[in-house]
Amino acid sequence: MKISFMSEDQKFSKALNKLITLVWVLLISVVGLTFLNLSRPPLMEDHDIDQTTKTNSATDKELTPVNTENIWQAPDTSSIPNNEEGKLIRYGRELIVHTSVYLGPKGKVRQISNGMNCQNCHLEAGTKPFANNFGAVRTEYPKLRKRSGIYETFEYRVNGCFQRSMNGQKLEEDSREMKAIVSYLKWVGKGVSKEESPYGFGMPELPFLDRPASPVNGKKVYMTYCQTCHGTDGEGYMNPNGLEYIYPPLYGKNSYNQGAGIYRLTQFAEYVKNNMPYGVNFSNPVLSDEEAWDVAAYVNSMPRPAMDLSDDWANIADKPYDHPFGPYADGFTEEQHKYGPFATIINTKIQ
Ligand code: HEC
Ligand code: HEC
Repeated sequence: MKISFMSEDQKFSKALNKLITLVWVLLISVVGLTFLNLSRPPLMEDHDIDQTTKTNSATDKELTPVNTENIWQAPDTSSIPNNEEGKLIRYGRELIVHTSVYLGPKGKVRQISNGMNCQNCHLEAGTKPFANNFGAVRTEYPKLRKRSGIYETFEYRVNGCFQRSMNGQKLEEDSREMKAIVSYLKWVGKGVSKEESPYGFGMPELPFLDRPASPVNGKKVYMTYCQTCHGTDGEGYMNPNGLEYIYPPLYGKNSYNQGAGIYRLTQFAEYVKNNMPYGVNFSNPVLSDEEAWDVAAYVNSMPRPAMDLSDDWANIADKPYDHPFGPYADGFTEEQHKYGPFATIINTKIQ
């Protein structure tokens, strides 16, 4: 009797848990969808809204106090000039936001990329703080990068994302599309001087775990917080018009390839901690640090397109600690370089 009563009880609490998760995920989805609709064109006042909700939030313990007063703001699109140059900048912005419509598998200009949009990772057309924004590109490029070993031009860097993050092909450097994208990148950073690195560039550092990140735990995080939008198989959700994704894929054949920056665990975890589930930002994260690392491990352990990386990192000692492919100059395994723990790797490097 007692046993059967217990199991009923368990059933009930399981069902209750499921219900709570469902309600939660629905809530996030609704919030996410609202943001999504508003953020095309992008929502600059995003972070003010979050500041007001922050003070009343029940998750205050999760929040690191941040000074949002000096946060970098991209120039307003209304300041784009009404001339030929302005036309090019606007077209560039359009290509960042709706890349796939123009350059995806059914692209109306060319078919050179996988259906994703640049904006999927460079949120709000590359203007959102701590979301891979383009604020520093104008002043930093051309620059020497160790991955390629060369002075990368704007065009070369853009093509890096076409070939890796978009698992595609290069866009011709003298095409109108490339000129437009580069004009837009320069415009986004126009208010930033060379010496500056305003608050909002790069990513807030995510403290390392002292254990390997766990794909098994990460799968649970994925099921709870991600799959409603990104799909049970990470496949995303295509707009019924077939031209671009509403929710981009996270793994599988239409996702970024193994040469992409976000295939590195740190890049993924930091992006997700500060930006996902969609609608959050750096000042109101939903995931704990552990959840961010573990979901990164899960997503980046799933199948995705490969890329020939034999020309990368000519000097293997320059490989970042979380580059998941050997050979390495240190004695650590590919497994540890992929999932951590990273602190031991870094400490060895310093000695
Ligand atoms: C799957 C995610 C993803 C997509 C899609 C993507 N990028 Fe990126 N991009 C990144 C990440 C992550 C970085 C930083 C990577 C690094 O340092 O290796 C980056 C870096 C860049 C940079 C250099 C930024 C800097 O401050 O140094 C430029 C420029 C860029 N991307 C342009 C583009 C363009 C243009 C597209 C679309 C054609 C695009 N990206 C699509 C993830 C993406
Ligand atoms: C409410 C819907 C929603 C939820 C929930 C959500 N995302 Fe996203 N995610 C998006 C949208 C929309 C984009 C693209 C944003 C854009 O293009 O403006 C995106 C983009 C991304 C990207 C970069 C593009 C790509 O496809 O690789 C990653 C990585 C990502 N999400 C990871 C996650 C993870 C991990 C979770 C769970 C912790 C999550 N997302 C939860 C809607 C969502």
